[in-house]
Amino acid sequence: MDLYEYQAKELFAAHNVPTLPGTVVNTPEDAERAAAEYDTAVVVKSQVKIGGRGKAGGVKFAKTAAEAKEKAEAILGLDIKGHITRKVLVTVASDISEEYYVSYLLDRSNRTFLAMATHEGGMDIEELAVERPEALAKIPVDAIKGVDLAKAKEIVEAGRFPAAVADEVADVLVKLWETFVSEDATLVEVNPLVRDPQDKIVALDGKVTLDENAGFRHPGHADLVDQETENPLEAKAKALDLNYVKLDGEVGIIGNGAGLVMSTLDVVAYAGEKHGNVKPANFLDIGGGASAEVMANGLDVILNDTDVKSVFVNVFGGITACDAVANGIVKALELLGDKATKPLVVRLDGNNVVEGRQILADANHPLVTVVDTMDNAADKAAELANVGA
Ligand SMILES: Nc1ncnc2c1ncn2[C@@H]1O[C@H](COP(=O)(O)OP(=O)(O)OP(=O)(O)O)[C@@H](O)[C@H]1O
Ligand SMILES: [Mg+2]
Repeated sequence: MDLYEYQAKELFAAHNVPTLPGTVVNTPEDAERAAAEYDTAVVVKSQVKIGGRGKAGGVKFAKTAAEAKEKAEAILGLDIKGHITRKVLVTVASDISEEYYVSYLLDRSNRTFLAMATHEGGMDIEELAVERPEALAKIPVDAIKGVDLAKAKEIVEAGRFPAAVADEVADVLVKLWETFVSEDATLVEVNPLVRDPQDKIVALDGKVTLDENAGFRHPGHADLVDQETENPLEAKAKALDLNYVKLDGEVGIIGNGAGLVMSTLDVVAYAGEKHGNVKPANFLDIGGGASAEVMANGLDVILNDTDVKSVFVNVFGGITACDAVANGIVKALELLGDKATKPLVVRLDGNNVVEGRQILADANHPLVTVVDTMDNAADKAAELANVGA
């Protein structure tokens, strides 16, 4: 789960990473009030979960409260790369001597954590990373040893931070690592980390991604979910404990096992090229033990997606054999009754496949077509979606 800047900085503050006070508002009038309370120059910042806000006009300086209102007016509603600004952060403006960049992330390809740092931070960090990658220090961080003061000093040296602030940056790096570990984050990024004229170090921006698989360890993280922008189908799937991701196509997908579902998405996208370019509407992995109830829940979510024109159920019978899955489908359709309205293409293979197909044949449900191979089933599902579209 990606956090908004203001949420990231709240986590930073909770771990003693220096930040500046800020207030999140969603009207220009509230922006004016917030700025008046700070009684100093402020910066009004679009809160969207995408980078490049400054360059898109989403970060504006305001000297007075009246100006803060104007700037908020301009930024609220602003579309930044498809993300509409619904709230802005009104935060105390800092005098800036220098802008630095620091981050920790999970480096999946090298199976380690990685610290990245440079004294050349700011809004052009992307170009720096491409044009002069040597200027961006990349230091692997051992998962067990983590970042203690000695490691933080190594990062500071590699990032070539000025001596005058080296100790303070190192101290911030240790606290950011504490944030990273204790919140179960996969990304913590500060750009810019600034040096003010008094040589104080402050995190002016923050980007945090939390590992949702660790959500059970952090009851407080649930409050960070933005109900307004969360997709209602994804919210429903989450409540039902389903592994579901909404996509933008027309063919609903249910499969058992993440790998099988991923390849199902591929074959459906490929088959769709021949049928009006229909595409998969979602990812849904119902896992190994696909009980009738789980199947019904999965179908319920998918059939509630108004984009869906057909559904492809692709199951490989393993520990849960095909006959159990077939019974699950039949029972799920019973449970759903009139709510089941779209054609279902079912491909079953694996353990007890003959029995499974027989169960579906006997049930003879008008919406269900059984197809024997994955490619043919994908083709059929795409064809039906195209007809229904
Ligand atoms: N509180 C502040 N006081 C003074 N200047 C600020 C403040 N916040 C941001 N800025 C200035 O605005 C620039 C852009 O802000 P910020 O880093 O938050 O957005 P961004 O980098 O454009 O967005 P993103 O991180 O989403 O790409 C900063 O590099 C900094 O120069
Ligand atoms: Mg930034």
